[in-house]
Amino acid sequence: MADTAPVLKAVVPAAGLGTRFLPATKATPKEMLPIVDKPAIQYVVEEAVDAGLTDVLMITGRNKRSIEDHFDRAYELEEALEAKGDDDRLASVRESADLAIMHYVRQGEPKGLGHAVFCARQHVGNEPFAILLGDDMIDARDPLLRRMIEVRQRHGGSVVALMEVEPDQVSAYGSAAIEATDEDDVVRITDLVEKPPEGEAPSNWIIIGRYVCDPEVFNVLENTPPGRGGEIQLTDALRTLADMPSEKGGGVYGVKFRGRRYDTGNKLEYLRTVVQFASERDDLAEDFLAWLHDFVRDHPVPSARP
Ligand code: G1P
Repeated sequence: MADTAPVLKAVVPAAGLGTRFLPATKATPKEMLPIVDKPAIQYVVEEAVDAGLTDVLMITGRNKRSIEDHFDRAYELEEALEAKGDDDRLASVRESADLAIMHYVRQGEPKGLGHAVFCARQHVGNEPFAILLGDDMIDARDPLLRRMIEVRQRHGGSVVALMEVEPDQVSAYGSAAIEATDEDDVVRITDLVEKPPEGEAPSNWIIIGRYVCDPEVFNVLENTPPGRGGEIQLTDALRTLADMPSEKGGGVYGVKFRGRRYDTGNKLEYLRTVVQFASERDDLAEDFLAWLHDFVRDHPVPSARP
């Protein structure tokens, strides 16, 4: 059932402890780790804004104050740059403060992604909204979120982003059972399982961290018991919605994403992302790639060394 209510709000959960990056994340949120010279979280907010979502609610926790500072004005710094006439840096400092209307709510207790999303209930109210998870970055040239909003407006219900991965990777994600529709990149979701044990996944299609949800998800989350890892799982709430396709706010669709996704959630993927982004920067690519070519030539993979 079509639902043309506009999607205007984005929810960005950012309350995690970032334990995979300790000790860097002892006093700095993992969301603030730089991809070259911009914190990862800024790319995520830019993606929301590019999709027309200028109201961004961040779900934060302890030790996350620097995220708020980053999206705020920094008068002392701005004055210093102004006095030096350093216009480029001044613009880059102001950019993050002018991106979107930012709101913050604290999660309090780390009870899972579903609980983090539930903390957005009051701010979101009775409107459809998007969720963007900071560990996944979608290339700005591959506008996934816009497509998901279109699908939500055509079909109603909720929409998740899906990607096909090798079978041995599925257990690290939420996995979906899917049915084709008459659109090549859109599927109907009939089941969802959070981090299925190996061999028990409904398919090789995993949920990547982009969702467009009907506000009905809040009513479901309220009654969703802790699931995998003892946490309240968003995947479990969406599974309930998938089970009620003809009820108000029910039904879940998937958009198959075939574009460029970067993972910043673990060290190896984070390093790859930094290298990829540096390689595409006009101000760095030439020198960086020249160095990288020599470096790789002089450093064979340890297991391949004679
Ligand atoms: C979360 C979701 C999972 C999804 C993943 C995408 O897991 O629970 O369903 O596949 O994000 O990155 P997390 O990575 O927070 O454990």
